[in-house]
Amino acid sequence: MTHLVAPSILSADFADLRQDIEMINESDADWIHVDVMDGVFVPNISFGFPVIKAIERYSSKPLDIHLMIVEPDRYLKDFKNSGASVITVHEEACTHLHRTIQAIKDLGCKAGVALNPHTSVSCLENILVDIDLVCLMSVNPGFGGQKFIDNTYNKIKALRLMADRLNSDLMIEIDGGVNSHNCLALLNAGANVLVAGNSVFGAENPIKAIAELKKLDPKLI
Ligand code: DX5
Ligand code: ZN
Repeated sequence: MTHLVAPSILSADFADLRQDIEMINESDADWIHVDVMDGVFVPNISFGFPVIKAIERYSSKPLDIHLMIVEPDRYLKDFKNSGASVITVHEEACTHLHRTIQAIKDLGCKAGVALNPHTSVSCLENILVDIDLVCLMSVNPGFGGQKFIDNTYNKIKALRLMADRLNSDLMIEIDGGVNSHNCLALLNAGANVLVAGNSVFGAENPIKAIAELKKLDPKLI
């Protein structure tokens, strides 16, 4: 598949969210990445259902919801009802990950699992066949605008090898510090979904920044 680009709304102007959503609608972006933080799993609080519903009302792109929360099972249905197309939970936050994944799929959403930088991709070996997407955190979750962690390349390569064996349709999403300097190398290592917050919303021309991330050709590297 050609790769997808998912601008992260966490870096948008919350006082003018509608304008930023309309910008994404007009752009080459494939999804809107929506970061939900509970102040427990991560040391920050972002937003909840009323804001996600407002995003959904104006967005023409599917919502890719990244749950940085404990006990995500309690709220899966609410996220679906708020407009989620993809729901990603953290492996570190799920005691019964298999059950959680099945619950997401039963709601008709694509199911994703996110891994913190310290978590090895090998923990997914027994569930890879059941999931649609793995989100590799390339920063410690909780904040936008952090520096990319280089070990992520090793994780992408190891995960892509595992996926070749067990789930060739697996989407590998990279979240944190993605920019115009590292995006080609990420695709070349085996990623195919790029989340970008600061490098899009901090750009002088966000539409152009999205187009640049989208038009990359992994063969060029
Ligand atoms: C971090 C979030 C990311 C964040 C990425 O916890 O999961 O999605 O918005 O922002 P940048 O691209 O600025 O690192
Ligand atoms: Zn995220």
